[in-house]
Amino acid sequence: MFAVRTALRTQTSVASRGYATAAKAQSLKERLAELIPKEIENVKAVRAAHGHKSFGEVTVDQAYGGMRGIKGMIWEGSVLDSEEGIRFRGMTIPECQAALPTAEGGSEPLPEALFWLLVTGEVPTQEQVKGLSAEWAARATLPKFVEELIDRCPNTLHPMSQFSLAVTALNHDSAFAKAYAEGTHKRDYWKTTYEDSMDLLAKLPVVAARIYQNVYGNGKVAAIDPSKDWSANFATMLGYGDNASFVELMRLYMTLHSDHEGGNVSAHTGHLVGSALSDPFLSYAAALNGLAGPLHGLANQEVLRWIQKMQSQIGEDATDAQVEEYCWETLKTGVIPGYGHAVLRKTDPRYTSQREFALKHIPDDKLFKLVAQVYKIAPNVLLKAGKAKNPWPNVDSHSGVLLNAYGFSQQNYYTVLFGVSRALGVTAQLIWDRALGMPLERPKSFSTEAIKKMFADKA
Ligand SMILES: CC(C)(COP(=O)(O)OP(=O)(O)OC[C@H]1O[C@@H](n2cnc3c(N)ncnc32)[C@H](O)[C@@H]1OP(=O)(O)O)[C@@H](O)C(=O)NCCC(=O)NCCS
Repeated sequence: MFAVRTALRTQTSVASRGYATAAKAQSLKERLAELIPKEIENVKAVRAAHGHKSFGEVTVDQAYGGMRGIKGMIWEGSVLDSEEGIRFRGMTIPECQAALPTAEGGSEPLPEALFWLLVTGEVPTQEQVKGLSAEWAARATLPKFVEELIDRCPNTLHPMSQFSLAVTALNHDSAFAKAYAEGTHKRDYWKTTYEDSMDLLAKLPVVAARIYQNVYGNGKVAAIDPSKDWSANFATMLGYGDNASFVELMRLYMTLHSDHEGGNVSAHTGHLVGSALSDPFLSYAAALNGLAGPLHGLANQEVLRWIQKMQSQIGEDATDAQVEEYCWETLKTGVIPGYGHAVLRKTDPRYTSQREFALKHIPDDKLFKLVAQVYKIAPNVLLKAGKAKNPWPNVDSHSGVLLNAYGFSQQNYYTVLFGVSRALGVTAQLIWDRALGMPLERPKSFSTEAIKKMFADKA
């Protein structure tokens, strides 16, 4: 799709061609309105040139094996390479850290900037990012009944279930659902999908913080400060706004967990449900239910539990031999959480950047040291055990220990943070799904009997 470039440069060149003026920073919606017609033509040309070509065969094993590696989906925001990890619109995580605008005095990219990149393929200007922060702050208010709905949930209901429930309920005010019911033309679907996506992104931290304060705090959520960025407001609502290093962690966390191409359970679910023209709230609530599974986002909460259990069993200064034995013990009854991946075959760069953050901000934290020790040992154990295709750590392997170092120790809540972030990637794609007129998704399935018949006369 689009090559990465800075919006500033693009605006200048666009202006020099006599179109939009560069006098004021464009909003994301204005920029999208310019990009969409060109991209529709681009996709038409790609389909005309390559539409009839095959880009891979499918084996019966793949159908039984969770559809691993089957090529059957378009996802614009990011591509995952099994060796080098994720690239957002062609940019690696270190490249994003170097190029995307940061907060004043901060050094981590702002998730608002990443969202702009995911949607447009362009690195935004500081001013455009500020515009997004302000817009999300302005859209953050929750309908009263959604607040009440969250407040009525028992503390014993998992935070992810509360989260999904509240996001479903936000569909009450969906601009897309309303426009659809009024018979809006298909070519304009993206506009209300965009509005809903912006509302969703704006409200998610408020929903998430309300759940957090109800379950673990005093039930009170601080007001949104319109002069602050998305992550700073979220950190404030969680009660950590005064800790500049935690606020930076939130910016990094929200950026890293945003998108991991299209086939992972949460992204794929959001896209699939969206293909039925369910609005972004319904689509994303479905995605959250997938994220809540232990093999996906919930691993996030499992890792800290596992590390803490190890620490309590073998003490603070574990030897390598003790850690190794603990890993082998774990394998007798389950998986080593935070290790392995369905696509990646190397250390997840999202693990690496969290490790770098830890080295900079919490180098002496005991659990961080244990995580680093596990990194030396667990891959060899998994290799010797011989089952996992990837013995290296994934994103979840580090996040819990970082949060815990700041006293943010409520593991059951960790997947909610992941859920706030993943909306950036899912909504960016939903907007393009509507802009490009993506159809209802409907792959073909077969029964085991049908497969037997299909190959009955073949060797
Ligand atoms: C991520 C995960 C679900 C990928 O699953 P996958 O694509 O099926 O992984 P593989 O193809 O490598 O699995 C092959 C075998 O190795 C096992 N395996 C994979 N990762 C393992 C791990 N971390 N610990 C122990 N065994 C593991 C699988 O359970 C499977 O065993 P089986 O044949 O008995 O069913 C898997 O690696 C896992 O369960 N990891 C731990 C949970 C986790 O960290 N999830 C977050 C992912 S971002």
